[in-house]
Amino acid sequence: MRILVTGGAGYIGSHTVRQLIAGGHDVTVFDNLRYGHRQAVPAERLVVGDLRDIDHLDHLLVVERVEAVVHFAASTSVPESVKAPAEYYTNNLVYSLQLLDRCRRNGVGKFVFSSTAAVYGLPDYGVPDAVPIREDAKKVPVNPYGATKLAFERALEDYSFAYPFGYCALRYFNAAGAAEDGAIGEDHTPETHLIPIVIQAATGKRPHVEIFGTDYNTPDGTCVRDYVHVDDLAAAHVLALGKLGPGKRLTYNVGIGRGYSVREVIATVEAVSGLTVPVKEGVRRDGDPPVLVAAADRLRAELGWAPKYTNLRAIVETAWRWHKAHPDGFGG
Ligand SMILES: NC(=O)c1ccc[n+]([C@@H]2O[C@H](COP(=O)([O-])OP(=O)(O)OC[C@H]3O[C@@H](n4cnc5c(N)ncnc54)[C@H](O)[C@@H]3O)[C@@H](O)[C@H]2O)c1
Repeated sequence: MRILVTGGAGYIGSHTVRQLIAGGHDVTVFDNLRYGHRQAVPAERLVVGDLRDIDHLDHLLVVERVEAVVHFAASTSVPESVKAPAEYYTNNLVYSLQLLDRCRRNGVGKFVFSSTAAVYGLPDYGVPDAVPIREDAKKVPVNPYGATKLAFERALEDYSFAYPFGYCALRYFNAAGAAEDGAIGEDHTPETHLIPIVIQAATGKRPHVEIFGTDYNTPDGTCVRDYVHVDDLAAAHVLALGKLGPGKRLTYNVGIGRGYSVREVIATVEAVSGLTVPVKEGVRRDGDPPVLVAAADRLRAELGWAPKYTNLRAIVETAWRWHKAHPDGFGG
């Protein structure tokens, strides 16, 4: 299949691009490299460009005779989205809508979208079975980031009823880890994800890791999240592309269905690295749900998704190998 991957030089995008290429697909990566890395994708596949340049994208859709789009490109920080909603609505919604419409006009019938657990907002912890979170749970995002992703999901759904078009929205929980062979891994600047931050604290690249809140109603008082290995996440995209066709409306959570607390992540990094992690206990951050764990049974049942990494230690081991070999990320 001829596939355009926006944001394909980023963390999850680059791992997915590898699997798509390995699967024999003809992949074009489109990325402005603001957060992505040239070294993360084969040079001959990369087109440097910005989503805002819709004519550039349109041209690519036509000349590459694109059959499917996998859309990772987005602004991705929750706290930043609260401070700069204009940037988030523009990059994540306006530009995505423009892309979607060019897909329609050029007959691109398959679209896979990077959505997020942030579409759910705060789970109803009082309601039985609210966690793990199922795809049909109520969706009331509590920040602009989640709101932009949910709004675009809605556009995909409406398009799929009116046009010969199918989509899959994958709601990722916390992506983590690095490629098994250590070739690529996670390198965000600034880093906002817990596992690399804890590794940076372990290796002295930052003075400590701050725990935001130690008084939650969780077993050890810290927030609990569902970590899914980036290669398992990438595999979900490949499976989704295989299933798509006109009128298909697919929405899946992607997580391992098990939560780990911040303290458990820290302890796991210490166990895997043999290093001590300096910790500073801080106050809660606004809008941080205590527990976010995915019910991912639908993805397993309908697409046959079978994650290879089903526990935190195995995921952290791959992240540790990457960071140890690349202390300065792609720059090192
Ligand atoms: N990392 C996670 O845990 C997580 C969780 C839920 C959802 N997501 C979603 O997954 C997707 C990928 O996340 P990631 O962690 O790989 O982030 P990332 O920042 O590593 O990748 C995003 C890529 O998109 C590119 N990009 C952004 N805006 C662009 C634009 N206007 N034009 C061209 N390129 C642009 C960036 O340069 C970057 O390479 C995002 O849509 C994010 O919202 C990520």
